[in-house]
Amino acid sequence: MNHEHEHQKQAGAAPTWALISTYFTPDDISCMSDFGINLADCADVLKNADPNHKMPGKGGIYPRVKSGNMPMGGTKWTAEMCANFLAWCTSANPCG
Ligand code: HEM
Repeated sequence: MNHEHEHQKQAGAAPTWALISTYFTPDDISCMSDFGINLADCADVLKNADPNHKMPGKGGIYPRVKSGNMPMGGTKWTAEMCANFLAWCTSANPCG
């Protein structure tokens, strides 16, 4: 395993907020604050994570980054980012 990969996520260990928080740009945080979601806040991201697409329409954070609906106007998340987000939000204690 190379070092860079290890830095992103240790094999077997759930990703932490320290990693996931780096996925949200200042633009993302600023745009989404107008819609009542604070992407800089672990608890708020978790509350809106919606791993099983239970939220109406295009869903919460996970369904939207997975489909590429969000970030609006930005770069689509990679499959690895989506997988890490899912593993993070369904882990035992995502916000520590
Ligand atoms: C990874 C980054 C982002 C995530 C995870 C995200 C997530 C979301 C979510 C969960 C909703 C639904 C809110 C609701 O139902 O109340 C939403 C809506 C919206 N977001 Fe974002 N967003 C991101 C980036 C952005 C950016 C950069 C912009 C502006 C350029 C933006 C503009 C909007 C707008 C206009 C809506 C309302 C329209 C719609 O529901 O499609 N978002 N976003």
